[in-house]
Amino acid sequence: MLTAQDIDVRFGGLTAVNDVSFQAPADQILSIIGPNGAGKTTLFAVLSGFQKPTRGEVHLDGHLLSESPAHLVSRQGIARTFQVVRPFPDMTVLDNVMVGAFARTQNFETARDIANRVLHKVGLQGKLSFLAAYLTLPDLKLLEVAKALATQPKYLLLDEVMAGLNLREQHSVASMLEGIHADGIGILLVEHSLAIVARMSDRVICLDSGKKIAEGTASEVLASKVVQAAYMGIDHG
Ligand SMILES: Nc1ncnc2c1ncn2[C@@H]1O[C@H](COP(=O)(O)OP(=O)(O)OP(=O)(O)O)[C@@H](O)[C@H]1O
Ligand SMILES: [Mg+2]
Repeated sequence: MLTAQDIDVRFGGLTAVNDVSFQAPADQILSIIGPNGAGKTTLFAVLSGFQKPTRGEVHLDGHLLSESPAHLVSRQGIARTFQVVRPFPDMTVLDNVMVGAFARTQNFETARDIANRVLHKVGLQGKLSFLAAYLTLPDLKLLEVAKALATQPKYLLLDEVMAGLNLREQHSVASMLEGIHADGIGILLVEHSLAIVARMSDRVICLDSGKKIAEGTASEVLASKVVQAAYMGIDHG
């Protein structure tokens, strides 16, 4: 169980995350939606140890995470992808993913086996020796997922991995992610594509200006008038 309790993140005068609490069981897919600037990426940064919260705590299976730096949080089992893809462009696809695997092993052969396995899982097994610089955007997104998976996480935090993909590509990535989830990895999803949110989520949280304004099933949250007003610009007057 991943738990966020009373999380605040302040940047000077700006409150990017404002008193957010939730629980994410590993057997569910939890989506976090909200307009641009709502605080979604900042919340992921807190959960993954990249950003220390101004207030509040994150626990994984009862262990406090929010005092630990990112590399220790990663070792505890939280992996994130970055909204803006960050490959090592001059390295091969396989080597990029091995970097992730070295988070948990010092052994070259073991790291290569892990990398091969996750590249197969995300569907990049045919491109192992390509330089990352030559991948298309959809493949770069898959590489981000593979790098995160190679750290062998309990939870995968996916920040807009489908942005820039067409609907067919989005659904194909969704199927792949559902397979990963079925292997027992908890998924937290930040996505603007509401079709994908509706398809994949067991629960949905909506943030607006850092605050949690709704939580429930996808159909409950997407039907909520406050969510529609904040997120979709639908004004019910
Ligand atoms: N390091 C930082 N320093 C100062 N302000 C920041 C920093 N990171 C984020 N912010 C601000 O915090 C707010 C939340 O940003 P965040 O990136 O978390 O939003 P988001 O929900 O991920 O948006 P998007 O949908 O555009 O990705 C924004 O107003 C942003 O400008
Ligand atoms: Mg973001």
